[in-house]
Amino acid sequence: MEWFCRYLDAGEGWLIGLVEWFCRCLDAAFTGNALEGAGFIGAWVLLVVCRQWVSLGSGSLGFGFPKVAGLAGGYLPPGTTGWPIIGETLEFSSTGKMGTPEKFVNERMKKYSSEIFKTSLIGERMAVLCGAAGNKFLFSNENKHVVSWWPQTHEKIMLFKQASTIGESKKVRGYLPEFLRPENLRKYVEIMDCLARQQIVTEWTPGREVKALPLARKHTFALACQLFMSIDDPEQIARLANSFARVSAGLLAVPIDFPGTIFNRAIKAANMIRYELLPIIKKRRDLMAENKEMETRDLLRHLILSTDQDGRFMTEMEIADKILHLLVASHDTTSTVITFVVFYLADYPHVYKEVLKGHSFEFRSFRSSSYIGFPWTTEQMEILKSKGPEKVLSFEDIQKMRYSRNVVNEVLRLSPPAPGAFKHVIRDFTYEGFTIPTGWKAHWSVFSTHQNPKYFPNPKKFDPARFEGSGPMPFSFVPFGGGPRMCPGAEFARLVILSFIHNLVTRFKWEKLIPDEKVKFDPSPIPVNGLPIRLVPHKC
Ligand code: HEM
Repeated sequence: MEWFCRYLDAGEGWLIGLVEWFCRCLDAAFTGNALEGAGFIGAWVLLVVCRQWVSLGSGSLGFGFPKVAGLAGGYLPPGTTGWPIIGETLEFSSTGKMGTPEKFVNERMKKYSSEIFKTSLIGERMAVLCGAAGNKFLFSNENKHVVSWWPQTHEKIMLFKQASTIGESKKVRGYLPEFLRPENLRKYVEIMDCLARQQIVTEWTPGREVKALPLARKHTFALACQLFMSIDDPEQIARLANSFARVSAGLLAVPIDFPGTIFNRAIKAANMIRYELLPIIKKRRDLMAENKEMETRDLLRHLILSTDQDGRFMTEMEIADKILHLLVASHDTTSTVITFVVFYLADYPHVYKEVLKGHSFEFRSFRSSSYIGFPWTTEQMEILKSKGPEKVLSFEDIQKMRYSRNVVNEVLRLSPPAPGAFKHVIRDFTYEGFTIPTGWKAHWSVFSTHQNPKYFPNPKKFDPARFEGSGPMPFSFVPFGGGPRMCPGAEFARLVILSFIHNLVTRFKWEKLIPDEKVKFDPSPIPVNGLPIRLVPHKC
């Protein structure tokens, strides 16, 4: 609410009330509830009146974004900041809800500039830098002109001081490398494989309707509980997962902290998770202090042992916060990719076949470009045969999954779980002849490159072969971001996804029960019915 109140005089209580009411309707509208009621229509009328009022010249409340003049002689980028207060947030969100999030960026790139345009989203004036060059500029200017920035909802629910300062980012990156070290990643493959197998055997029942999205979420959450905190009690995992679903829903809700709003429920759920984790952290710390703890290689151990520059250990509450951050960063993202691998493999049987049996690819002579051979990659069935069904998957097995890895990349290109990230401008900068003032936000979006024919010919086509050879142009394929803030969990996520896919394709083929199921982006892509499929076991 603060970002609305910034625009309001303290004495305008009635107006604050109206805006609060408007926001509640909007909040519900974003989740689909209020579209059924009159609230949203009322909110819309209020908005139109507001816009009319502002355009008639009532500037006393400072609704309109001021023209930024005199910026070292610079011009602001082309584009529009849209409606008062909400800017272009509704257009941004509605293209996502309609399953075409790329439209927002692509239409503006066509209309204004393929390099940069201005807009206003979630109450912030924003420059969107486009294309591989825009990505490169933002990734390489972290801490010089921009710092990482997250919407206020994240800050309030996860109680983080914006992890935008160099210090905060270093903290995140301080305890993670230990947990994500290649030697440790190797060991997690066994646990990833066992949990995937366990879930598939018990819950992916052949012949009946099975919903891929909730099951993928259940798997990645159970895995995170196991690898982050060694929690394996199904009841406790279910309780945490329940609260976590409310946290996820609140991260992009309108930030109004009223009883009953999605945002308010998310704050409460985040607190419930923290209080559930505190005794676990305390118990582990005590065991470690008494040297009674078995050598567990989970994240919690690394968090308890890590210190800041002054040698200070984290408090139990700080540790609970860090775990919550990592659950948010890792859970929905990874389960989305698993879901969409299932989605695309059902749509493209020839890709499914190559994942299962191996992939042929052309070798061309470097000099003459002439075709010289047809070697086959060893994929899932071969890997299963070579290790035997009872033996667990190893890190080396995952290294052999070359074609499946390309399939995962193609899923990350077309259905990216993280559509981009926001930055806060800490020092004016000029890009493509336009000046972006200090205090603005900057945004990079996967959609300015992932679906752009300049970087990916025939961009709508699902074609894992694009990732063979030297692969895409630098800074054009950015599902994990880039530069100093690039996702540190990328390799971990790939291991989770590939170990799960191995267990699924070596047991089943499948078909979609709703062939044209709609996909909305919120902001991760979600098949609206949860991707119901029917599994068909392989004949022995
Ligand atoms: C397919 C799965 C995933 C995708 C697509 C993804 C994507 C991203 C993206 C786009 C960013 C922001 C980069 C930026 O600000 O420029 C990010 C940050 C981050 N991710 Fe991931 N991520 C995934 C999985 C994971 C996993 C499994 C973990 C942890 C084990 C993780 C931990 C983090 C952390 C801690 C950050 C913040 C880094 C910082 O602020 O310095 N992510 N991720």
